Amino acid sequence: MAATPEIDMNRRRFLIAATAAVGGAGFVMTAYPFVMSMMPSQKALAEGGPIDADIRPIEPGMLVTFAWRKQPVWVLHRTQAMLDRLGKHDQLLLDPLSQQPQQPVYCQNATRSIKPEYFVAIGICTHLGCIPTYRREVGAPDLGANWPGGFFCPCHGSKYDLAGRVFKDVPAPLNLKIPEHTYLSATRLLIGADKKAS
Ligand code: FES
Repeated sequence: MAATPEIDMNRRRFLIAATAAVGGAGFVMTAYPFVMSMMPSQKALAEGGPIDADIRPIEPGMLVTFAWRKQPVWVLHRTQAMLDRLGKHDQLLLDPLSQQPQQPVYCQNATRSIKPEYFVAIGICTHLGCIPTYRREVGAPDLGANWPGGFFCPCHGSKYDLAGRVFKDVPAPLNLKIPEHTYLSATRLLIGADKKAS
């Protein structure tokens, strides 16, 4: 049976709190072997400003979750094989060209990113706010033979590809939202602003 919106919001709050709690202990693996959680400084959290993220530990294929403004922000290090698949299932997507304003203009492109290998997105389903799970397995039995790898929302079954583009015929109406961000260097990502705050 589908969860109610109230339950969804509780789940969302719980999961964000859990992410913060895990991240506060340092840099640890969660249940999924390719997902990690990280936490910005207390100062950045208190101010709600942009966070400076070290992306060096993110191996190809790995997803790391950062906490920003009490939201989970994903950084996925896409492999070349993942990138090669992105252009092959546009017919399955609701907004394959990202025409809805769910991203900064510099991410309105085929990979929805500044650098193709790094996908940055707010990890909150655009239906009722649950946190989708990272499902990178192509053709996963429970998601169908044409599943290209992506994100699956367990609350009501919405699906997104590895660029956060929502599939047709699911409850979610929009692609995943991409926050403002910029690269301070090859290994440092600023999440929450287009340029380094002074
Ligand atoms: S919250 Fe309903 S499908 Fe994600």
